[in-house]
Amino acid sequence: MPVRSYTGPCYTRPAMRETYLIRTFGCQMNKHDSERVAGLLRADGLHPVDEAEDADVVVFMTCCVRENADERLRGQVASLKSVKAARGGRQTIAVGGCIGQRDGERLLDQLPHVDVVFGTHNISRLTSLIDAACSARDPVVEVLECSTEFASDLPAEREHRWHAWVPITVGCDNFCTYCIVPHVRGRERSRPLEEIVAECERLAGEGVVEVTLLGQNVNSYGRDLYGSPRFADALRAVADTGISRVRFATSHPKDLSEETIGAMAEVPQVMRSLHLPVQSGSDRILAAMNRRYTKRSYLDLVGRLYDAMPDLALSTDVIVGFPGETEQDFLDTLEVVESARYDQAFTFLYSPRVGTPAASLTDVVPREVSQERFDRLVEKVQRSALMKNRTLVGSTQNVLFTGVSKRDPGILAGRSEGNKVIHVDLPPDTRGDAFAGRLARVKIDQAQTWFLSGYIVDERSSPPAAANSL
Ligand code: SAH
Ligand code: SF4
Ligand code: F3S
Repeated sequence: MPVRSYTGPCYTRPAMRETYLIRTFGCQMNKHDSERVAGLLRADGLHPVDEAEDADVVVFMTCCVRENADERLRGQVASLKSVKAARGGRQTIAVGGCIGQRDGERLLDQLPHVDVVFGTHNISRLTSLIDAACSARDPVVEVLECSTEFASDLPAEREHRWHAWVPITVGCDNFCTYCIVPHVRGRERSRPLEEIVAECERLAGEGVVEVTLLGQNVNSYGRDLYGSPRFADALRAVADTGISRVRFATSHPKDLSEETIGAMAEVPQVMRSLHLPVQSGSDRILAAMNRRYTKRSYLDLVGRLYDAMPDLALSTDVIVGFPGETEQDFLDTLEVVESARYDQAFTFLYSPRVGTPAASLTDVVPREVSQERFDRLVEKVQRSALMKNRTLVGSTQNVLFTGVSKRDPGILAGRSEGNKVIHVDLPPDTRGDAFAGRLARVKIDQAQTWFLSGYIVDERSSPPAAANSL
C-alpha cells in the first residue's frame, strides 16, 4: 500500500470536509448511482462545487465498457494529483463504479494519490470509507463481490427535480461475449414490484413528472423473484402511480414480450420510445456475440412493434468490427439499419475487454477497415434519423421541457414522447428554467437530423400531470 506523502493540515475530521464534486462516466445506471452518492454526501453535511480546486471530496463514478472510458478516467484522476498537492493534500479522492469494482487495489498502482476505491455493490459505505481513509491517512479499498443492497434505498440528490432514475433490476445474466457489464455489476436481481411502486408514488408526490425504469435488460424483470418476467405488469403498475411519463432502458430483443408491446401500445403514460440494441445484423456475428436472436427474428419483432405502434420511436446500439466481421456481415448490419427505420443509433467500434470471451478471439478486424465501416454506418443512421424526423413535420407532440438549449439561451429545449429533442423559441420576458419540468403541446414545423423545431400550441399536457402543465 503506498504511503501518504502529504503532511499538510489535518483533513481527518469530518467537520473539515465541506464541499464535494462528482464526475460521472458511463451509463444511466451510473447516473442513478451518482445521484445516490450526492445524497449521501449531502446527508453528511457537504455541498456541491463545480471545480476540483474547490472540492474537499472528489468522487469518480467510472465506466469500463470500452477502452476510451477507461483512458479518460485515468487521465482525469491523474490530473488531480497536482490539484491535490496544491491543496496541501486536503482533498479526498474516491474512485467507485465499474472500474473500482473491476480493479480494486490494482488501481492504486497507477494512481497512488487515490484515497478510496469502492465498487458497484457498496455505495452506501462511501462516507464511512472516506472517514476511514482520512483517519488512517492511507488508502482504503473495499470491493464486494455482490450484495443485497439496492442503491435506490439511499437518499438521493436528483439532478432534475422533475425526473428520476428508478432501477428495477441490477446486474445482468446475459453474458454477451464482448461485454464487461455482467463482470462488474454481478448477476441480475430484481426489486420487488411493491417497492418500485412505492418509490414511484413517493416521487409523483414530490412533483416528478417522468421516471426512467432502469435495468441492463428490463424485459427479464421479475424472473428471479416471480419465476417468470413481469415487466409488462411493472409498466402498468408504475403508470398508475401518478407519474406522467414512464420510460425504460434497456430492452434485450430476445426477451421483449407481446405483453410488453401491448402495455406500450395501450398505456398512455408509457412512452412510445424503445431502445432495442441490435449490435449486428449478421447471424454469424450475433451467434459469436451470444445475443440469442437472428437478423430475421429481430426484424420480425420490429415489424410487430410498428404494427402495434406506427408512431414508435426506435433506437439501437451497433458494434462495428467485432472479431471475424466480414464485409458481408457488415452489409447485413446496414440492411437492418435500413429496414428498422431507426430514429437514433449509438454506434461503437468494438473494444476488447480483458476477462470477456471475445477478448481472446484472434481474427481482429484492422482498425482502418472498422473505421471505414463505422463511417458508412453513421451516414446511414443519420439519413434514417432525418427521414424519421421529417415525417413528424406538421404533427403536434407532447413535450416535456428540460430548460434552455446549451447552444442558444433564446431557445427552449425539451423532449417529445419519442425522446426527440424539440426546440421552441423562448417566450419573451420569461426565464428558461421556469419551464423546466413542464409539459406542453408543440406543433412541429421543421426537422433536422438531431432535433425538431416548432411552437407551443396548447397548454394542456398529456394525462395526468395537469398540475405541471403550462
Ligand atoms: N445492457 C445494455 C447496455 C450495455 S452497454 C444492453 O444490453 O444493451 C451499452 C452498449 O455498449 C452495448 O449495447 C454495446 O453496443 C456497447 N458495448 C458493450 N461492450 C462493448 C465493447 N466491448 N466494445 C464496443 N461496444 C461495446
Ligand atoms: Fe452487456 Fe449483453 Fe448484458 Fe447488455 S445484455 S449488459 S450487452 S451482457
Ligand atoms: Fe459502463 Fe458500468 Fe454502465 S461498465 S456502461 S457504467 S454498467
